Amino acid sequence: MGIRIVGTGSYVPATIRTNADLEKLVDTNDEWIRTRTGIEERRIAGADETSSTMAIQAVERALAQSGIEGQDLDAIVLATITPDHIFPNTAALIQHHFQCKKAFCFDLSAACAGFVSAMETGFSMMKAFPEKYRRVLICGSDKLSVIVDWTDRNTCILFGDGAGCVLLENDGTDTPDCLLTSRLFADGGYTDVLQIPAGGSFMPASEESVRNHKHFIYMEGRETFKLAVNAMVSASEEVLAKAGVTTDQIALVIPHQANLRIIQAVAKRLGVGDDRVYCNIQRYGNTSSASIGLALDEACRTGRLKRGDLVLFTTFGGGLAWGAMLIRY
Ligand code: UT7
Repeated sequence: MGIRIVGTGSYVPATIRTNADLEKLVDTNDEWIRTRTGIEERRIAGADETSSTMAIQAVERALAQSGIEGQDLDAIVLATITPDHIFPNTAALIQHHFQCKKAFCFDLSAACAGFVSAMETGFSMMKAFPEKYRRVLICGSDKLSVIVDWTDRNTCILFGDGAGCVLLENDGTDTPDCLLTSRLFADGGYTDVLQIPAGGSFMPASEESVRNHKHFIYMEGRETFKLAVNAMVSASEEVLAKAGVTTDQIALVIPHQANLRIIQAVAKRLGVGDDRVYCNIQRYGNTSSASIGLALDEACRTGRLKRGDLVLFTTFGGGLAWGAMLIRY
């Protein structure tokens, strides 16, 4: 079995919101945001853009690169925490756009661990049922600007909108698979540090929930920061040890883009130099489910990655959900 990445794609909206723009919304400043997070600007989707429309743009690029037609997809796994609707699932809207009528579609909610979770799921389906799932689209797309409280300086500086995807194909040969090993974790005991309190069955939407800003991201930043570094490092170490791969053999680490200081701390503890760590947080902030897919596509298209390179993903986010994955591009 040879499950390979045959295409990557990404999309970010055209509108840029700079740190200077945020200074007009909340009591913050460019210097604080840059030094504490590394973020310089983020993209904000237009009123007519949604998680599905952004994903579709990214998918168009991956399909064009692979030469595969949309209608030939066997499954679509979409990671998002900002679905177009509660139901139907947003993957089905992508399926409808590309008219891949036979594709099994579903959304997956794992916040910032979404893209890696979708990879794990789609790849596992292909391994388990190669006849059914030969071409699987893995996508992460989030319009976080609609769940960010633009009056909360603790969180509004961090997030942006975007989409990223990969197209996996099983070519039926004995070429080694692209996914070498992975380890994903969750701990539901930390809902109080990172969540959207309202809008689900726990706290349905009400005038009060809207008035109290309960439909927006709530995060205990400092606590999340500490947990993130330790979790990303230990998951990465576990995956590398399991694969028998040393950090010297990794061409590129693509970490979830939550905070430049988190990325640097993780890289330092893993002993990987900055030149082998992919960062685009400066331009996009944290795009949650899209983050790693977006970074992977940029790394491929700008020549930072070459075929055969080993790449380490590591991620952390709401759930809590975190993990690491080793792939060969
Ligand atoms: O992707 C999901 C996972 N998310 C993360 O991993 C994010 C993890 N957390 C972080 O990235 C960081 O904790 C933040 C960037 C959110 C905050 O940075 P920090 O260095 O942890 O700052 P802090 O929360 O400890 O706040 C330090 C000070 C506080 O003032 P006092 O109490 O020292 O007077 C804050 O009120 O900075 C203040 N502050 C701000 N000042 C200017 C908080 N936000 C801002 C702001 N502008 N936007």
